[in-house]
Amino acid sequence: MAVSKAQSFLITGANRGLGLEMVKQLAESRASTCRLFAACRDPDAPKSQALQDLAKKYPKVITVIQLDTTDPRSVTEAVSKVGAKLEGGGLNVLVNNAGVMSQDNLLNTSEEDFQVAMDTNLMGPVRVTKEFLPYLLQASKASTQPGMSCSKAAVINIASVRGSITKTPETYIAFPGISYRISKTALNMFNRCAAFEFSKDGILFAAIHPGWVRTDMGGPDGEIDVVESVQGVLKMMGSLTEKENGAFLDYHGKQLPW
Ligand SMILES: NC(=O)c1ccc[n+]([C@@H]2O[C@H](COP(=O)([O-])OP(=O)(O)OC[C@H]3O[C@@H](n4cnc5c(N)ncnc54)[C@H](OP(=O)(O)O)[C@@H]3O)[C@@H](O)[C@H]2O)c1
Repeated sequence: MAVSKAQSFLITGANRGLGLEMVKQLAESRASTCRLFAACRDPDAPKSQALQDLAKKYPKVITVIQLDTTDPRSVTEAVSKVGAKLEGGGLNVLVNNAGVMSQDNLLNTSEEDFQVAMDTNLMGPVRVTKEFLPYLLQASKASTQPGMSCSKAAVINIASVRGSITKTPETYIAFPGISYRISKTALNMFNRCAAFEFSKDGILFAAIHPGWVRTDMGGPDGEIDVVESVQGVLKMMGSLTEKENGAFLDYHGKQLPW
């Protein structure tokens, strides 16, 4: 496993889709050598059963944490629970994975479509990153490794090619999702700004498009399954250095146009 030296990860939206598969692959490959904080908004709901089963299988590795990325209070409570369990070691990797999408276009979109998309896909990562910064800084300071990497301190923003302004003509008519696209374009800008702001502190930021994946969001026609996507994303994460700080990449490591 490429992200071999990271000791701690927090993944949002970990109860299904790509988030759940990321927790699964990390636990399977890293059991007993790392701490995984699997965050989801309704840990006791039936939709989180698969995550709870996984956490029972790896009780020393996985901690399920309640975290609704749109609720500031839920975020601060999650920070104090995770902080207490980190025991001074800091947080190596935050994966801002939770996201929502609607298939709106300009004619049929609503204020609500935009509010939900912006609050979840942009403000969620902003909020969660801001609150977990002290633990990312702690991990960066504690690391003896040179340069930037996921083994040291990193924020991975799960982005989308649909946030690419350049590539919009290729897919907009078939898959509009105007509120989703705009929120993911804004997420790219957040990623880029934060990368510059925190490079002096050794925290790496990268926006990674996971491919078109067969999940509830990606639908049954997606090009790849969650296993292939997450294998690619984790491999990618393991190869990131300061050269990729602020970059927008796909799950093979290919640079995507803004
Ligand atoms: N699938 C694709 O083809 C594709 C392509 C490009 C990018 N992406 C990105 O990949 C990420 C994961 O997508 P996915 O395909 O795995 O989607 P998914 O199967 O629909 O899962 C979405 C996850 O986000 C969680 N979530 C939504 N709103 C949340 C909130 N306010 N607080 C906490 N969690 C919340 C959901 O939790 P609940 O169960 O509570 O709703 C669920 O765990 C998203 O950021 C998405 O934009 C996906």
